[in-house]
Amino acid sequence: MRIYEDPYLLQQQALAWRQAGEEIGLVPTMGALHAGHESLVTRARRENARVVVSIFVNPLQFGPDEDFARYPRPFDQDAGRLTALQVDALFHPSVDQLFPRSFKSAVDPGPLGDRLEGQARPGHFRGVLTAVLKLFELAQPKRAYFGQKDIQQLLLVRQLGRDFALPVHVVACPTVREPDGLALSSRNVYLTAEQRQHAPVIFAALRAAEAAFRTGERDAERLEQLARDRMAAAPGLAVEYVACFDEIGLQRPARAAAGNILATAVKLGSTRLIDNVVLGAGSD
Ligand code: PAJ
Repeated sequence: MRIYEDPYLLQQQALAWRQAGEEIGLVPTMGALHAGHESLVTRARRENARVVVSIFVNPLQFGPDEDFARYPRPFDQDAGRLTALQVDALFHPSVDQLFPRSFKSAVDPGPLGDRLEGQARPGHFRGVLTAVLKLFELAQPKRAYFGQKDIQQLLLVRQLGRDFALPVHVVACPTVREPDGLALSSRNVYLTAEQRQHAPVIFAALRAAEAAFRTGERDAERLEQLARDRMAAAPGLAVEYVACFDEIGLQRPARAAAGNILATAVKLGSTRLIDNVVLGAGSD
């Protein structure tokens, strides 16, 4: 595996691969890799001649009071995992290399960027899409892999691809979970032992609402309330939102239908966690 810090060297390599007819799979990450990230890399490895993984803690997508400075950065450990997964190129630019002072443009995600996560984190998706567009231009992927765990991000990246006719297939990958249901996240390391003990209630609550959907409940607000009630019992957990929405306009449907999303954001102490399930799709 070769490590690239210079964006233009990575781009030259990517263009050479493309010219040689080798398809590139890109997995954008912020590092602190876990089995969720690894599932994306494994799939990319299966489906592409070349695999590029980026590790870049993107300052543009963090709010001023968020955890940019303390976000975990175990680079050597991450690089070891990616070598074992037979990644061809690890792209690890500095902030100055990807977003130098001369950098002025940004991608406006439009109205869907202001809902849900975007409402809680103003400017977040503008930062995400700006970084993702730049990563696409540098890594020249035929396919780019994103987790269902960050469902709104996945949908907005799809929209970016459609809106700008990007020649990239955005591949959605299922959420990888701990045995007790907690979705893997780089932020789980912030949890105290006690918070960690209560964290599985997040997925349990979503799954309970999903089970109610499967047995006939179609009132979206009632499904949301059911998940909210289930989480209310957990000490130290504050629900930010529970939202049932369609995959296109991110609006609450009049009647919930299979394929709609039930998503939540909660705070356990100062740690913010998100998760979601697809209605009618079983328990993943
Ligand atoms: P990060 O949080 O590191 O996540 C990188 C990718 O891994 C995302 O597509 C995310 O959805 C996926 N992922 C995270 N946890 C997962 C899990 N438990 N199961 C499956 N996939 C999971 O998302 C970002 O970084 C950034 O916003 C980024 C896209 C890199 C742009 O800066």
